[in-house]
Amino acid sequence: MSNMIKKVNGVKDVLPSEVYKWHTVERVAARTAEVYGFGELRIPTFENTQLFVRSVGETTDVVQKEMFTVTGRNSSYTLRPEGTAGAMRAVLENGMLQSDPLPLKLFYTISCFRNERVQAGRLKEFHQFGAEMVGSASPAADAQMISLADNIIRRLGLKDIELHINSIGCPKCRSEYYKGLRTFFEPHKDELCDTCRERLEKNPMRLLDCKSEICREIGKDAPLAIDHLCSECAEHFEKLKGYLDKMGIKYMIDPKIVRGLDYYTRTVFEFITTSIGAQGTVCGGGRYDGLLEEMGGAPTPALGFAMGLERIIMTMENQGCEFMHTPSCDIYIGTMGDAAKERALILTESLRSEGYHAECDLMDRGVRAQMKYADKLGAAFSVIIGDNEINTGKAVLKNMMSGEQTELLIDDTFSEKFGDIHTAHMFELESLG
Ligand code: HAM
Repeated sequence: MSNMIKKVNGVKDVLPSEVYKWHTVERVAARTAEVYGFGELRIPTFENTQLFVRSVGETTDVVQKEMFTVTGRNSSYTLRPEGTAGAMRAVLENGMLQSDPLPLKLFYTISCFRNERVQAGRLKEFHQFGAEMVGSASPAADAQMISLADNIIRRLGLKDIELHINSIGCPKCRSEYYKGLRTFFEPHKDELCDTCRERLEKNPMRLLDCKSEICREIGKDAPLAIDHLCSECAEHFEKLKGYLDKMGIKYMIDPKIVRGLDYYTRTVFEFITTSIGAQGTVCGGGRYDGLLEEMGGAPTPALGFAMGLERIIMTMENQGCEFMHTPSCDIYIGTMGDAAKERALILTESLRSEGYHAECDLMDRGVRAQMKYADKLGAAFSVIIGDNEINTGKAVLKNMMSGEQTELLIDDTFSEKFGDIHTAHMFELESLG
């Protein structure tokens, strides 16, 4: 093993024994999004680098430090660090604003790539479930997006997740706010990290989510966007709060949320847990009313969120939440001899085509070892076929839990008869709770 090539630090394998956790989260999220009228969008894993520079923003950590980029003579491609940019590119490029009724409601389950410093809950390749709504400027749309995220979180059984909301205004209120930020940071210019010193002119709000301890300390008492909202932005935020109150969604106002991507306007929000350590933001999102225009489309309001699936699963594990188990083996067909093997192959085929998880021996094991294997698979039923069974055309089906035995013909009626017994068994299990 010493000369084996290992995986990169910051990526993960998901083994079949763990994948049911992923299925649980992906299915609950997708099903909930469908109930809210969202349709699934699939987007490419990489895009032209410029797409992310333009949308995520050239002064963000994501663009400045974390992109996986491949450059050629006339091209530069980047593995998606997030889904919003690609999703909005797809919306514009496919003319969806013209062809589909508004608001457009899209969701996606994707892998994302950021070359970050790895720690618990922070990976280089991670996965997001994201949802985007395009075309509505109404604060009721903000409330519905938040409600969708909240609903997914609740359906997964997560507890103690706090919803933090904030408004970071629009370009109109920002020009004044930026002046205030520059005045605040200017006296500390020499103490700031190199990146932030540069950001001070171009995009002073980025200083507020710098990961450097020193910049964080300096920025502690910086002016807040929420104190500089124009009347339209303030009204939008008031209405959103009113809707959330009426919908019974609890939140706290957190004026420190600025988010790490440049496209946000007005509402921003995060769902945060303390169950998984420092990287406790399991979901983040907000409005990005300027992005579609910035990307070359007509001015179109939009908003969305994305959940970090690794963080969601980690929180569920730490909180002891239930995952849907992938059904284990329904029936194991043990065999002795070549004729039995052939019969088992045919029976397995017909059981599988009826939707049962059936298994038979592929390792030339003896019967005892085959039954051990059936146990390991958690088979609900077993049947053993040998020369005797081949001659009589019958075999004994055994319920592995109760030990109950039933004689069945091993011809083409087998899977139907097995189906009846299996249904009765499942019914019994359910009534036992
Ligand atoms: P984000 O806050 O950058 O937003 O990422 C969303 C979520 O992805 C985070 O809350 C976190 O759970 C997870 N995440 C981010 N980086 C990592 C990482 N390195 N390792 C593990 N998990 C991570 C966005 O990406 C926006 N596109 C969300 C959005 C959609 N806003 C509007 N629409």
